Amino acid sequence: MIRIQGVSKRYKGAANFAVENLDLHVRPGEIFGFLGPNGAGKTTTIKMIVGLLAADKGRVLVNGHDIASDPIAAKRSMGFVPDKPDLYPRLTGLEYLNLIGDVYGVDGPTRTKRLQHYLEMFQLTEAAGDLIQSFSRGMQQKLALTSALLHEPSLFILDEPMVGLDPKSSHQFKEIMRQHTRQGNTVFFSTHVLEVAEQLCHRVGIINQGRLIASGTMDELRTSPGHAGSSLEKLFLELTDEGGSYEDQE
Ligand SMILES: Nc1ncnc2c1ncn2[C@@H]1O[C@H](COP(=O)(O)OP(=O)(O)OP(=O)(O)O)[C@@H](O)[C@H]1O
Ligand SMILES: [Mg+2]
Repeated sequence: MIRIQGVSKRYKGAANFAVENLDLHVRPGEIFGFLGPNGAGKTTTIKMIVGLLAADKGRVLVNGHDIASDPIAAKRSMGFVPDKPDLYPRLTGLEYLNLIGDVYGVDGPTRTKRLQHYLEMFQLTEAAGDLIQSFSRGMQQKLALTSALLHEPSLFILDEPMVGLDPKSSHQFKEIMRQHTRQGNTVFFSTHVLEVAEQLCHRVGIINQGRLIASGTMDELRTSPGHAGSSLEKLFLELTDEGGSYEDQE
């Protein structure tokens, strides 16, 4: 689970907060979708959850561990895939996965079993022995996802995970997320693909200009005052459009 309490971040020299006074609780067993326009503060929030960026104010608890004061325990309990995974181009896929397996202390037999499973699922088994620099964008994304799943973290954090995935891989990936949360684990991911959020998420949050402007189940958002019956797309446009109004064009 994730508990974000009163978190703010302003980048050096910036006039405005990238994230301002954010409170968010993501519960065990939940797939939570984090939505918002470009520049809204999604990646900044995610970087503060995973400990890549220190919050100016407030605190973040990951599975009960404070990311600032207990970063190792917090990081051990989560897997993270950034928006642009930075893999080592001169390693082979397998070398990279074994490196990550070593870092997280995944024992040999367990590692072999999980690698077989995920590489097969993502149709990467054959390419795994090749240098990462020869991988396509989607293959690199699948390698990053596999590496983050290798230690079977109870919390999975993903910044725009569907980018670059072909339809079969993205379908399989959605299944992984569903299975993962059915077992009581938690998934938090950002996306611009509202259909995916609508299909997959138990709850969503919408951030705009650093502030959380809505959160809840799809039904809660759809039945909120002034938005009755809206699609997620219409709701998103209405909530993130300053002063404008969106007419239903259907
Ligand atoms: N390293 C940085 N230095 C200074 N400002 C930054 C930095 N990273 C992000 N920002 C600013 O912080 C704000 C939030 O950016 P962020 O990357 O969190 O948005 P985002 O919601 O992830 O957007 P996108 O959908 O485009 O990925 C933006 O105004 C952005 O310009
Ligand atoms: Mg981003």
